[in-house]
Amino acid sequence: MVSAPVAEERLTKAAATGAVVVIDYGGQYSQLIARRVRECGVFSELVPHHAPLQEIAARRPRGIILSGGPASVYAPGAPHLERGLLELGVPVLGICYGMQLLVHELGGRVEQAEVGEFGRSDLTVDEHGVLLRETPREQTCWMSHRDTVYEAPPGFTALAHTSTSPVVAVESVERGIYGIQFHPEVVHTPYGQAILERFLTEVCECPPTWSAASIVEEQISRIRAQVGEGRVICGLSGGVDSSVAALLVHRAVGDQLTCVFVDHGLMRKDEGEQVIATFRDTFHVPLVAVDAERRFLERLRGVTEPEAKRKAIGAEFIRVFEEEAAKLDGASYLVQGTLYSDVIESGGGTGAATIKSHHNVGGLPEDMRFELVEPLRALFKDEVRAVGAELGLPERLVWRQPFPGPGLAIRIVGGEATRERLDVLREADHILQDEIRKAGLYRELWQSFCVLPDIRTVGVQGDERTYGYVVVIRAVTSDDAMTADWARLPYDLLETIASRMIGELREVNRVVLDITSKPPGTIEWE
Ligand code: XMP
Repeated sequence: MVSAPVAEERLTKAAATGAVVVIDYGGQYSQLIARRVRECGVFSELVPHHAPLQEIAARRPRGIILSGGPASVYAPGAPHLERGLLELGVPVLGICYGMQLLVHELGGRVEQAEVGEFGRSDLTVDEHGVLLRETPREQTCWMSHRDTVYEAPPGFTALAHTSTSPVVAVESVERGIYGIQFHPEVVHTPYGQAILERFLTEVCECPPTWSAASIVEEQISRIRAQVGEGRVICGLSGGVDSSVAALLVHRAVGDQLTCVFVDHGLMRKDEGEQVIATFRDTFHVPLVAVDAERRFLERLRGVTEPEAKRKAIGAEFIRVFEEEAAKLDGASYLVQGTLYSDVIESGGGTGAATIKSHHNVGGLPEDMRFELVEPLRALFKDEVRAVGAELGLPERLVWRQPFPGPGLAIRIVGGEATRERLDVLREADHILQDEIRKAGLYRELWQSFCVLPDIRTVGVQGDERTYGYVVVIRAVTSDDAMTADWARLPYDLLETIASRMIGELREVNRVVLDITSKPPGTIEWE
């Protein structure tokens, strides 16, 4: 039965966009579900569970996925299922909490189990149905739940169980409603991606059209439509986001774009030259490179407190950028490398564009009257890299580890960032990067860098007493920089790095390793 107002929203396959909407009930893997859907070649968007039905219907999705979430369906104030979602005429897949919501709402039995099920679980398929077709009878899956489904709703088939959960997958092919208790999106569920793919291709009949090439094509036409004949300015930092954004805009509007690269003298060794060579010489992008090292070092004189350093660098960056922008006659558009994760984290709205300020030295003041061009707004980081590769960006830039806007200045700890110290740090960092790349570990690490504390220690070299700098090696693994673990670099590699640093850098006589995770530490030292 379809209620009157919703009937208008009912979708036909022809009208659907091909996208899948993931409704976020607050689960820790919700973004990952959207990413996994995209890995199947299907565009997906994450919307909060309180988004109005009309907003979801307006996206004309081909399928809807209900994410997991921390609540219990019985808890007061727990997010509920918007019944209209089931009446849109598109298939629905509930995952974990999403499944419990469906079962609860449709007359099945969900109750709190005596023991929850967390982590790896062995699942037995009782009936493959459509969803579990071509997966083994016995398989491993990843669980994280306390409430458990005891009975499937009337008209549904219970497909599988584990030793503690009698019903861990349900479907009603007729109604187009499916549910799984486990998490198909995490790598610990080996058949998870296959199950998602079956839902997307067989049940929702989504065409696999989402690819790096299609993103490039679509963004180019969007940028052209937005910018027309206008002039565009882009602050280039050498990071993957601004690089990919700049290349996309250049593909779209050619020389209407001018990139501004501010070299604040706080970059790593040869980094500035590489950015200039790539953009100006290889891609022929109009590029203004500003050598502002003197200005920045001047500004940093006597500044030792971390936040004061950040502020000084941020303020100087804005001044330099504004000066350059003023020289470019009539530029009215500004490229910003906002990513989809930023959009989601700031509420997900499509409303007013915000300029990232958190942690971002490139954050520009609000009174700069530019209209923003944000070609990465729909993309996750891994998609940005894929688009970069598609556009021919060199591997070194595509896979660059994150580097903070204030650069090496916040890695000279407890002291002033002088030219001399920056040079020592730059050389030490260069040795570290070189060895880490040679060992094939660069991509595995979220970040690897050196820190130079403002202290000296005593050593002995060639029968002489030395009094030199200590270099700290910091290497971490992480998914998103919110938490991080110190990387277990091989001892032999550490030894090679340390002896090269001490042998090649006269000023350094000691190398230490930071073994603090985050929390309690942060990734950077300042
Ligand atoms: P922390 O040190 O807070 O760093 O664990 C988390 C991530 O943010 C980067 N970071 C910065 N990036 N400007 C930036 O653009 C900054 O001031 C800044 N401080 C930290 C850091 O490198 C890590 O990736």
